[in-house]
Amino acid sequence: MAEIRSVGVVGGGQMGSGIAQLVAVNGLEVWLHDSDSTALSKAHQSISSTIQSLVSKGRLTKEKGAEAVRNLKYTSSLEDFGSVDIVIEAIVESEEVKKKLFTRLDSIVKESAILASNTSSISITRLASATSRPSQVIGMHFMNPPPIMKLVEIIRGANTSDDTFNATKCLAERLGKKIVCSQDFSGFIVNRILMPMINEAFHALYTGVATKEDIDAGMKLGTNHPMGPLELADHIGLDVCLSIMKVLHAGLGDSKYAPCPLLVQYVDAGRLGRKKGVGVYKYSKM
Ligand SMILES: NC(=O)c1ccc[n+]([C@@H]2O[C@H](COP(=O)([O-])OP(=O)(O)OC[C@H]3O[C@@H](n4cnc5c(N)ncnc54)[C@H](O)[C@@H]3O)[C@@H](O)[C@H]2O)c1
Repeated sequence: MAEIRSVGVVGGGQMGSGIAQLVAVNGLEVWLHDSDSTALSKAHQSISSTIQSLVSKGRLTKEKGAEAVRNLKYTSSLEDFGSVDIVIEAIVESEEVKKKLFTRLDSIVKESAILASNTSSISITRLASATSRPSQVIGMHFMNPPPIMKLVEIIRGANTSDDTFNATKCLAERLGKKIVCSQDFSGFIVNRILMPMINEAFHALYTGVATKEDIDAGMKLGTNHPMGPLELADHIGLDVCLSIMKVLHAGLGDSKYAPCPLLVQYVDAGRLGRKKGVGVYKYSKM
């Protein structure tokens, strides 16, 4: 497949806006779409002010900053994705909603385009089955925040072709990332290991083993983690953590993956983490 020059990103939340910014700063054209117009304008504001701040701190030249702004296009219509070489989907972590989007994208994008998902845990093979191009569907899992974290986890579905894999790997490397490759099993590598630890931290809090502060301090100071597991859950989004635990539980069929009732209750109460100003902790500024 020819080199990727133009990228479509679906979902302008924490991950989609970070991915769009990263791609634009690295000199590629990007279309960013969100079905929620408020989310789209919030993404626009946040990306513009981040690029401005990178320029004023001298981390990006004025010319590169201006080029990145020119590279970015925001759209409320998916039909604008007709000319992109790859779509990176970063919408809500729901198989049903993602499948509907993949079916729609399949009918909009050009025949050669790749459909990549930033899913944290959902089967790439099943997302691919919602399209007529399973060999061109792949997992491209960025870490949060995408412009800063060094890793992209690449997941091949059962039918993903070598061409699709190679083009996706080249794109990740062009964006300055290191890649690891995972088989298509629930949670892949990173969340298969990380989420049960976060869920266990919720169990420790739920059963009164320790305070939230001590659970986080224990893991930071005792095991050299840069963030405690509860802080990290707030950073990721408790709704995202819960969705991933449900996927692990259903996909791997072991009761050890059942979501902690306290995590479920926080999500039910709208305590979704930093993005809502409250999760395990309260945040005055978002
Ligand atoms: N949060 C993390 O730390 C993290 C890390 C890696 C991967 N992910 C994955 O990235 C994806 C997005 O997560 P996020 O944290 O950015 O979520 P988020 O809630 O911040 O953003 C999701 C965005 O998708 C939009 N959206 C929902 N349905 C849509 C649709 N059908 N069409 C277009 N837009 C739609 C929403 O309006 C919202 O703006 C999920 O699959 C998640 O598992 C998240």
